Amino acid sequence: MENVAWWKGAVIYQVYPRSFCDSDGDGVGDLAGLREKLPYLKNLGIDAIWLSPIFRSPMVDFGYDISDYREIDPLFGTMEQFKELLDACHRSGLRMILDLVPNHTSSEHPWFVDSRSSLQSVYRDWYIWREPGPDGGPPNNWLSVFGGSGWELDEASGQYYYHTFLSCQPDLNWRNPDVSAAIQDVLHFWFAMGVDGFRMDALWYILKDEQFRDNPPNPEYKAGQPPDYQFMPLYTADHEEVHDLIAAMRRTADAYQDRLLIGEIYLPPVRLVRYYGLDLEGVHLPFNFALLECAWHARTIATLIEEYENILPEGSWPNWVLGNHDRPRIASKVGDDQARVAAMLLLTLRGTPTIYNGDELGMPLAEIRPDQVQDPLELNVPGLGLGRDAVRSPMPWDSTAQAGFSEREPWCPLIGDWQIRNVAALDQEPGSILNLYRRLLNLRRRYHSLALGSYHPVAARGDALVYIRKSAQSDSVLIALNLGSEAQKVIAEGMSGEILLSTVDAEMHGPVADKFELRPNEGLMIAVSTGAKLKAASVSSQLSKT
Ligand code: NOJ
Ligand code: MG
Repeated sequence: MENVAWWKGAVIYQVYPRSFCDSDGDGVGDLAGLREKLPYLKNLGIDAIWLSPIFRSPMVDFGYDISDYREIDPLFGTMEQFKELLDACHRSGLRMILDLVPNHTSSEHPWFVDSRSSLQSVYRDWYIWREPGPDGGPPNNWLSVFGGSGWELDEASGQYYYHTFLSCQPDLNWRNPDVSAAIQDVLHFWFAMGVDGFRMDALWYILKDEQFRDNPPNPEYKAGQPPDYQFMPLYTADHEEVHDLIAAMRRTADAYQDRLLIGEIYLPPVRLVRYYGLDLEGVHLPFNFALLECAWHARTIATLIEEYENILPEGSWPNWVLGNHDRPRIASKVGDDQARVAAMLLLTLRGTPTIYNGDELGMPLAEIRPDQVQDPLELNVPGLGLGRDAVRSPMPWDSTAQAGFSEREPWCPLIGDWQIRNVAALDQEPGSILNLYRRLLNLRRRYHSLALGSYHPVAARGDALVYIRKSAQSDSVLIALNLGSEAQKVIAEGMSGEILLSTVDAEMHGPVADKFELRPNEGLMIAVSTGAKLKAASVSSQLSKT
């Protein structure tokens, strides 16, 4: 087998540590709880876990407000427990990716406390301080993503500091080389310990306009959209020179063996792929969130796959995300049946997939009553459907009290159907979505074409989406997905193969010829017979409704 970087053939699994497993009965998930569940993750068949932040934090933004980049927050455990967890991961063949938040710190971080303490502080210039605007108000019109002005007045000095997110998350000044050096040190600290990579938060935000120009109004803004959409983020995000800063972090990662950098970047595809870097000296994987917000239509999805595939820079490697701790759950978006089809899509596309914890159970959004809202985004900007509590509901492990997540009431409500939708119950059902995920992950290991092969679109018509994954050395797999609830006929001329997996019938196997039917909500994977010399161009496919 060719020498391929580990993360290309890998499947990443996002753990939201607060909600994974609570070992000490305080209602909040922790490292010891996660450690207990490593066998579950190993058995699921994933390769790497990415942990949302576990560092010391006042937790106003649930850990994305860091007050010490080199300490584990006591809520999650100790450094010793972290090292044990890292060791245990490595012993069982799992890689561990941590979450780096380079754009901002907590206002309780000693750097900011010092910065704020005086105009003469050596840390003053580590953050973005400005004199008030001509009218005595904020220096310009930049808005916070979490509502209101991005500028917060510091009464003591009379200056404002900038915060892309909450006012207790002041932005670091990446124009100051000391800031870059300090963050590189953080990377060194964890890489030297053996951490395999970082997911880097809000990466497209870290550099802002040097002249602090006002953002232009967004003519397409409509009431009900997130309030910062009122202006185009021309001067506050996706700065041309951000790539130099990222390249410096990449050099740090490259000083170690086999480390991975992933960027959290919400941008249109053409802007997104620039984060690979001009000569691939950027992040290894700029998260591709295209599936998170697209309409669930075969043609739409086929188009976005093709668009993405076509603009990937030479030598870069794709990736796909179906859920995370910030966006609504896929099962709530498309329903239970299609959540299974979505799983097949995620795990058969070309590129590294990231699974969000609980999606393998088909978890829906939890019901959050108004008095249960904790997400600072929803608290600041209520009623627009931006709240993220519902997607952060604890993992239901079994049908005992608190779903086996904790001995106490969990910090965030459980999903409504946890008594039947839990790991223990789904484990016992051969046809459950959990077992479907296991089979899909297993097939990715068995079929080189699925893990590393090329992608060939075949057809997207009606509700059917058909494509082939092909490996030069060995196998080819045809994937036919029915994104709707009516049967679809597929004709793939000249094809013959064996059914590997159906999303609606775990027992379905056997030969399949060039004409076959997809049942409602069915996804099928077919191992195309060797010697069939199947090329995308030679597969003519007609799709029609029965
Ligand atoms: C993106 C993170 O995923 C989100 O949870 C957080 O609130 C913001 N960045 C700010 O760090
Ligand atoms: Mg706990």
